[in-house]
Amino acid sequence: MDNSDLNQKIAVRQKGLKLLPKPKMIVDMYAGEGHLSRNLWSKLKSDLTCIEKEQWKLNKLDFDCIKICDDNRNHIELASKADIIDLDSYGLVMKNLKDILNANKKTQLIFFTESNPFCKFMSKVVDEIITLDATCFWIEKSNQSNVFYGFIYRKI
Ligand SMILES: C[S@@+](CC[C@H](N)C(=O)[O-])C[C@H]1O[C@@H](n2cnc3c(N)ncnc32)[C@H](O)[C@@H]1O
Repeated sequence: MDNSDLNQKIAVRQKGLKLLPKPKMIVDMYAGEGHLSRNLWSKLKSDLTCIEKEQWKLNKLDFDCIKICDDNRNHIELASKADIIDLDSYGLVMKNLKDILNANKKTQLIFFTESNPFCKFMSKVVDEIITLDATCFWIEKSNQSNVFYGFIYRKI
């Protein structure tokens, strides 16, 4: 379900937001039906862009944002201009995360959901994260499944 663990995901994002409380631009790269953006990102005074590959999900976004119906990998350059990027994926997210970090020196805070079955141990995900150029990071296991939530912060 797109909104599983919503409270836990929001709590992780609120923790990260303490490091960057007034973001100007946010890109939600896996917007889905917009649970995270509706309940959190749209409430900040920021420019919000929501990317989702399925139009019927995008049609459900009933809050103020720019909507893009496409594969998010076509929008790495746009994402590179954001202060915050949200990668709430169903699957492998580390490749996107590396591409985004390599593509820009602007984004400070990237939230992720890592649910790659090959990364079912937290240490595997941490091994990936420590190769990145991060000032600090947070990772925690889902209360409901074998999925990890976290963020990477870069002080720029
Ligand atoms: C876990 S759901 C996101 C839930 C959403 N964050 C929310 O709070 O409602 C992941 C979403 O990413 C979309 N998606 C998967 N791969 C994508 C891609 N490459 N580009 C754009 N959207 C993608 C899926 O269609 C799905 O709706």
